[in-house]
Amino acid sequence: MWCFSKLQTVHGLRRCSLLPFMSRAGYGDVRSTRPHLFTTPIFYVNAPPHLGHVYSALLADVQHRYSGLCERDTLLSTGTDEHGIKVQQAAVALGLDPSKLCTQVSQQFRTMFDEMAISYTDFVRTTESRHAQAVCHFWKMLEKQGYIYKGTYQGWYCTSDEAFLSEEQTRERIDPEGNKIRVSLESGHEVQWMSEENYMFRLSSLRPKLLCWLQTDPIQPAPFLRIVQHWLEEELPDLSVSRQRNRVSWGIPVPSDPSHTIYVWLDALINYLTAAGYPDPNLSPWGPSTHFLGKDILRFHAIYWPAFLIAAGLPPPSKLFVHSHWTCEGVKMSKSLKNVVDPSECIIQYTRDGLRYFLLRHGSPERDCDFTHNTVCKLLNSELADALGGLLNRCTANTINPEQCWPHYQCMSVPLLAHDKLQKMLGALQELPGQVDQFVNRFHVHKALEAIDGSVRCSNAFFQSQAPWKLLKGGEEEKTWGYSVLYLTLEALRLYATLLQPAVPGLATAILDRLGVATIYRKLKGNHFFTATRGEECCFQGQALGPDCGLLYPRLEVDQEKPIVTNKKTEFENNPL
Ligand code: MSP
Repeated sequence: MWCFSKLQTVHGLRRCSLLPFMSRAGYGDVRSTRPHLFTTPIFYVNAPPHLGHVYSALLADVQHRYSGLCERDTLLSTGTDEHGIKVQQAAVALGLDPSKLCTQVSQQFRTMFDEMAISYTDFVRTTESRHAQAVCHFWKMLEKQGYIYKGTYQGWYCTSDEAFLSEEQTRERIDPEGNKIRVSLESGHEVQWMSEENYMFRLSSLRPKLLCWLQTDPIQPAPFLRIVQHWLEEELPDLSVSRQRNRVSWGIPVPSDPSHTIYVWLDALINYLTAAGYPDPNLSPWGPSTHFLGKDILRFHAIYWPAFLIAAGLPPPSKLFVHSHWTCEGVKMSKSLKNVVDPSECIIQYTRDGLRYFLLRHGSPERDCDFTHNTVCKLLNSELADALGGLLNRCTANTINPEQCWPHYQCMSVPLLAHDKLQKMLGALQELPGQVDQFVNRFHVHKALEAIDGSVRCSNAFFQSQAPWKLLKGGEEEKTWGYSVLYLTLEALRLYATLLQPAVPGLATAILDRLGVATIYRKLKGNHFFTATRGEECCFQGQALGPDCGLLYPRLEVDQEKPIVTNKKTEFENNPL
């Protein structure tokens, strides 16, 4: 059997047969002509959106927005996964035509993403004809390359996960009624025995190429890469990629044999190609891409997807970014436990940017994170209301800034005692954009926000220590320094707000509006900060502030009991036909 460590040491990257796809030189021209594609998973339409779904989409949204800030051309696609037995069964249970259910729930996702300001550039529904075309073309490519054959699949099937499982991937369990059932080891969902003549995909033959792809370090964070390496050391059986149509009718038929339906995961994964315009012969297959996904769907993205792509003669994805899950009050969210957190409720309580900030700042990709009302309130009160909102208020309030404008900075005004403190602070602020850039590029958005919050606190401490409200009542020298402190604080806020735009676009815009910053100065590229402290021109000096729009972020009541959990239903569940 191939062993990853052996492959790493015995076969250097230069001997890897995937290199034409993956090296910048080999694929460079084609890749560089396409914008980077960020994708979210596409969401099942058997239930309405919840907090976990929003998190997957939010991570991708921040990357897309950050690229825009740096004036890089990127795309963000999302969508809904509408085929398969799971959706078919949900429709039957509601006595509905599946297409009606799909349209309604798909719209709920779209509305939710709009409410959350997810800046998607494409929304792929797997029931669209452009997607069916992509899937059929892709299937034919797999067939043409000899990767599809007819065989008998015998094994376990997990409808909840739409996954085929081996005996070792399942275990026996006693259900609450005392019945013996078999469940998936990974998800805990019930599985059923299945024996069917299916079309099979020669997955087993692709192990060496998958190992080779892994050498390009495509999976982040690293613990998830190790999980995939471990999976590839185990047996890798061929994969069933169709279901008989009389059992699963809600899906795309196999082009050459309409008595079979294409496996829903093959169908769903191809949405990423649909978003890239596949199979348009005038377009390169696709450019560099980063797929965001939750840890529960790692196998599908890190084994099946690159294998399918390689088999079809296409490059495997450049990056997979995997995140952990959100729990609610320490418990896994589930419809049956009625503890699913409803993002709409959260928006009402915390505002859209409040929710975005909490998820991005408290969420960490490596470990599961817990959502509780108190944690949300404490974090948002401390970082948005007190630290950031407080800083904005301190330097823009009429009491301290009656002229409502940016004062001038005077290099000569810095008192001896404040000199070192100022140099240290300016040094740290100068480094902040670079630090944020590194964190965001490594997908550590929570660390980027932590760094910004740390700087906001330093600015507050500096403001407090210099007490400009006292200086401005003093003699000429003191006044000049007081105005310089105000300038420094406004400039620091301009920097924070610029950097915060991808995470909290609404709040960041409110700050920039209040500071009177014109749109052309809101990008990162070509934007310079604290220029006056270096004796250079700064266009903001003497400029008017924007209108006062009140508190940036009002404090939340910590102990108030409010429902954030929902048992939200689809429209059809609310109004049964
Ligand atoms: N339809 C598949 C994905 C196909 S992609 C080609 C699917 N859909 S899903 O609706 O079940 O999940 C979509 C995303 O939501 C996944 O990334 C999943 O990990 C994420 N989440 C679902 N529950 C979650 C939490 N409790 N916490 C964080 N994210 C979770 O899988």
